[in-house]
Amino acid sequence: MLLSPAHQFPLGGALRPERRAAVVDWARRTGGLILEDDYDGEFRYDRQAVGALQNLDPDHVVHLGTASKSLAPGLRLGWMVLPPSLLPDVVAHGGGRSVSALEQLTLAEFLTSGAYDRHVRAARLRYRRRRDSLAGALADRAPDVRVTGIAAGLHAVLQLPPGTEQSVVQAATWQNLAVHGLSRYRHPAAGGTAGDALVVGYATPPDHAWSGTLEALCRALP
Ligand SMILES: Cc1ncc(COP(=O)(O)O)c(C=O)c1O
Repeated sequence: MLLSPAHQFPLGGALRPERRAAVVDWARRTGGLILEDDYDGEFRYDRQAVGALQNLDPDHVVHLGTASKSLAPGLRLGWMVLPPSLLPDVVAHGGGRSVSALEQLTLAEFLTSGAYDRHVRAARLRYRRRRDSLAGALADRAPDVRVTGIAAGLHAVLQLPPGTEQSVVQAATWQNLAVHGLSRYRHPAAGGTAGDALVVGYATPPDHAWSGTLEALCRALP
């Protein structure tokens, strides 16, 4: 079972403690394996850190991390913390060989020297300011839009008035913004109603372009 328990993508919620316990219980009863996709765990802002699900049962949970959010997606560097019983099979199947050894060694040095931690702390502060500036601008300029999922990570979900998602995505495209409607992430067989929303990543624009980008986003919103 693949989960992103600390910060679900795209809605941004965290798995509640009773559901964390229930899923670990399922894995123990059935011999199942949980893949814990902790893709942006470095960036938590105003809520208590959510412990890794893997701590609850290291024999049934694989913890997956990535440098895609903290460094750059183009590096293609990630890591797995594996149940010891799986290690020989993963090594036998070439785990780690598809990534340049030089980049792996550089990351190892970055981690052990403490520089990675310093970088993440500084980045967390910058992204938090950005998130606050996004939430503040929307409260002022787009009072019909509700921002959710922003306690962690690098994206926000903008809940839109009913029936407006497609037109807002179109308006954002005209403003040269690459944002997606929430419906894009919805499985065709999913039941219920998700509501209209926009999924907005706020990490990409360089600092000098941020205020212009925010202005363009506000223009696209109802
Ligand atoms: C849900 C989720 N998992 C994992 C990742 C990271 O993927 P990768 O390490 O292949 O870049 C992302 C990146 O955006 C993501 O959104």
